[in-house]
Amino acid sequence: MNRSHLILISLIMIVSCKSDKKREFDVKDDQYQKFEIICDRDTTLWSKSGAEITIQANTFPCLSNNKVAIGFVEILDQADMILNEMYTISSDGQMLESGGMFRFKVYGNESASLLKPIQLKVPTQSVHPHMYIFTPSVDDEIITWDKTNTKVFASNSEEISLGDSLYTSLCTSCHASNLRQNLTGPALGNVHLYRDKDWLNDFTRNSINMIASGDSLALCTYTKYRKVVMTSFPFLTDSDIKAIYAFIENQSALQGIGESEMDSVFDCSTIVPSEGFSSDTSSFQRFIFRDSLIRSYLIDMNSLLWANVDAFMRSPNMTSVAPFEIEASQDYEDFIMVLAFANRKTVIPFQKDSDGTYRLRNSIGKEKIQMPLGEEVVLIAYNQSDNFKFVKKTLKIKQNENSLQLELTGQGKAAFDKMMKDFQASLRR
Ligand code: HEC
Repeated sequence: MNRSHLILISLIMIVSCKSDKKREFDVKDDQYQKFEIICDRDTTLWSKSGAEITIQANTFPCLSNNKVAIGFVEILDQADMILNEMYTISSDGQMLESGGMFRFKVYGNESASLLKPIQLKVPTQSVHPHMYIFTPSVDDEIITWDKTNTKVFASNSEEISLGDSLYTSLCTSCHASNLRQNLTGPALGNVHLYRDKDWLNDFTRNSINMIASGDSLALCTYTKYRKVVMTSFPFLTDSDIKAIYAFIENQSALQGIGESEMDSVFDCSTIVPSEGFSSDTSSFQRFIFRDSLIRSYLIDMNSLLWANVDAFMRSPNMTSVAPFEIEASQDYEDFIMVLAFANRKTVIPFQKDSDGTYRLRNSIGKEKIQMPLGEEVVLIAYNQSDNFKFVKKTLKIKQNENSLQLELTGQGKAAFDKMMKDFQASLRR
């Protein structure tokens, strides 16, 4: 081996060390919330989004004066993911849905590690039934995630899974299991938002009685559904029925069932509107967000690395579709392009392929890719250098044609920030 080989090898080592540093994929320090805590005392903190952080005494190594300065960061929605380049793809190329990415750090002590686990209680509107902790990995300078065996449970996961099994065994002979289609009985997606709780309770146990007693809403649904009578379930307790609707609520949120799909709402709603509901569409939208139940899930943080609460993407509409192929109208420098799902906390980066076309990272070299057909996605592309140009396009995932020509039409950092802010405001937490 001659001298130039040695130089080459050491150059390669320097380069790979450099990308090793990037391996940590830390977000900018200003994204962290800073706290100072007393080392030998139990402490409870609340994050910006309302996550409860329980820290036991002597969790952090303490250098002096019994105090330690710590930082906490949470990446909770698609906008945060895009701005921080924290994407949701597993290291084997599968799309993930994130329930949140979290990280702690200790200021002034680079080599610190956690001496005890920290418990997080994270508020959320929906809890995926198959969530696990994922840990960070690296692939070509992009963060990817490895599944661990640590399952994450909702605070009411038992209720939801009881509701799941009751709904599946008792209701799906007439009501669609995806909660979307009208079959013998109407689609029940989001039914908890437009029918009163007591009414749902009584109707589910014995709708025939309600029709006979002249309940106007029961009569209306009965008349509308070709006078098919729903089975009665006298053996269901109040808490069984509550569990069924907790499942329906959670499942509706997970599947991103939107207001526009809730046509049954308006059919009989003028007769007995549930509390707070008016058939006026604008107040209806507000109603959804005000009344959604906030749930939470619990995780233990065992290290100072990222913890990502994730599930592999699942959908009844998952189909083989043509991959997204994007041609940029010019060769931009410092260019980032991502596909964000409108109703899932999923953001997948694009990568420039050898032919100059941008393809989703998990679709490189593939003729078809598994995607939830018909779902709304948002394509966001920007280049930071050269006066900041960007574009945002809302698309639906189609079967055969997902290609497009892209031009960055927006200009300036301020306009980009405003676009991202509006995008964030449109997202479901
Ligand atoms: C034999 C078929 C059948 C089964 C089984 C059945 N339903 Fe129904 N369901 C219907 C039909 C038909 C309607 C509409 C007619 C009516 O209102 O009586 C309906 C209506 C409903 C409604 C009213 C929807 C609205 O717009 O207000 C709810 C809520 C409901 N079902 C819940 C359930 C639940 C929960 C179960 C399982 C525990 C269930 N159903 C099982 C047939 C069924």
